[in-house]
Amino acid sequence: MRKKIVAGNWKMNLDYSEGLALFSEITNMVKDEVTGKQQAVVCSPFIHLHSLVQMAKGYDKVSVGAQNAHQAESGAYTGEVSAKMLKSIGVEYVILGHSERRQYFHESNELLAKKTDTALANGLKPIFCIGETLEERNSEIHFQVIKDQLVEGLFHLSAEQFTKIVIAYEPVWAIGTGLTATADQAQEIHAFIRAEIAAKYDQQIANDTTILYGGSCNPKNAPELFAQPDIDGGLIGGASLKSRDFVDILKVFNA
Ligand code: 13P
Repeated sequence: MRKKIVAGNWKMNLDYSEGLALFSEITNMVKDEVTGKQQAVVCSPFIHLHSLVQMAKGYDKVSVGAQNAHQAESGAYTGEVSAKMLKSIGVEYVILGHSERRQYFHESNELLAKKTDTALANGLKPIFCIGETLEERNSEIHFQVIKDQLVEGLFHLSAEQFTKIVIAYEPVWAIGTGLTATADQAQEIHAFIRAEIAAKYDQQIANDTTILYGGSCNPKNAPELFAQPDIDGGLIGGASLKSRDFVDILKVFNA
């Protein structure tokens, strides 16, 4: 059975002490309240990561992830952080291809394919983000946009490599806007993504791939979204900055 994951994306929020305080609340609440097999993944800014990895020791339901990593192994790339560096401090996951990185840092599918290769080569598990803009949905090209993101960003991977990937469907129009995709809209895309994976690899790999929904997800709308057959959890922005909300979303999967 595929893994259920609720990942928090803190984006560029929280100073060092604020981040540690929030993480400490999250680990304590998860220990006391989470009863299923679901996994929490907290994706913080780089500066928190080393401390969070240390704090997460002994809490096997809480993992730590970065929000980006460079495509090169090392070198003269001032200001960048490599996958190997992240791995060396015990980071487990890395978000790749978030729409904010695609938009503000011009990350293309081609670049993201390289970032994925480098992350995998260094033992990180990518949370690979895909999703259409409102304009693309209104022009009814959203299925094609998502297919292109999959084909160009991920489908060069071997079947063995692909099993390490978590996919996050985040419709750009739903991010930080309070506009959530309806459960039906999200399910439709998630089923499409799974079918594309089955066509490229096989049905077993498709069945085992965790596909998260992201975009204005909160404790109120998470139960309906996560009840859909192809939605395996969430990638949470704003609500992941509040321990109560984040853990309540995680608890949707309680046994
Ligand atoms: P919000 O939950 O704030 O809409 O952000 C979603 C997101 O971008 C997570 O990566």
